Amino acid sequence: MSNELYAVVGHPINHSKSPKIHSQFAQQTGEPIEYTAVQAPLEGFAATVHQFFKGGGKGLNVTVPFKEQAWELADCRAVRAEKAGAANTLYQNQEGQLVADNTDGHGLVRDLLANHGVQLKGAHILVLGAGGAVRGVLGPVLEQQPASLTIANRTVAKAEALTTLFADEAGAATLSACGFDEPDQPFDVIINGTSASLQGDLPPLCANVITAGTVVYDMMYSLQTTTFNQWALDNGALRVFDGLGMLIEQAAESFRVWRGVRPETAPVIDAMRND
Ligand code: ATR
Repeated sequence: MSNELYAVVGHPINHSKSPKIHSQFAQQTGEPIEYTAVQAPLEGFAATVHQFFKGGGKGLNVTVPFKEQAWELADCRAVRAEKAGAANTLYQNQEGQLVADNTDGHGLVRDLLANHGVQLKGAHILVLGAGGAVRGVLGPVLEQQPASLTIANRTVAKAEALTTLFADEAGAATLSACGFDEPDQPFDVIINGTSASLQGDLPPLCANVITAGTVVYDMMYSLQTTTFNQWALDNGALRVFDGLGMLIEQAAESFRVWRGVRPETAPVIDAMRND
């Protein structure tokens, strides 16, 4: 039997770790898949997607800058992708419709809960940022029933818009928005979803948000400790994590959506950490 074809689409795409991650999943599970990386022209995302599925492709991951376009292009969306406003997973259903899913939030929550043993239920959570990355994870985070979720952003209006959008998902959690300099009380969990670290910048937070019990998660990952995680450690955080586990957990969830088989993530996280 010949392999079934999957790919990640982005621009640029040459640094993507997804082909390596998915080939390890394929090897481990014995699923007959081939997974490649495709660079779509900036103005040619839709054409690239249609061509891929027309050519017999089975599933796509979508990355920067096309996640919002993937969400718009789809004929239908998984429930968890609806409010995310962005999709990282595409496939065709039995009727040949293009389905969009978003596994990023699932990946973040699973990395925190299953890999790091961090409980979100009843926790006071501070989320930094209000862009696409944060919007993509808020639903699954709120599903864990935190006591409160505070969204802090440089542009406060964007954080406020997210609290309005996710008001229905908040349940008993207190959902609020503010600027970076406003929170001065300790949080149990702080999630950095800004792209500030990419520029080596730090959101100007009051150090009181961190105590000896605070867990910090930077959705970015890098070989060195991220700028934000280093700041958290310098201010006495209990533990800091970067987004490598989230990257591999979102990939595993896409693999499960496509193939119906969930790969083991721990060996892949170890392998990629040392890659
Ligand atoms: P992504 O898809 O990575 O979320 P995005 O939608 O452009 O990208 O959002 C980037 C986020 O990082 C935003 O919350 C942005 O703040 P603004 O909404 O005020 O633009 C935040 N961000 C980017 N650079 C930043 C910096 N240097 N300091 C603080 N926040 C920054």
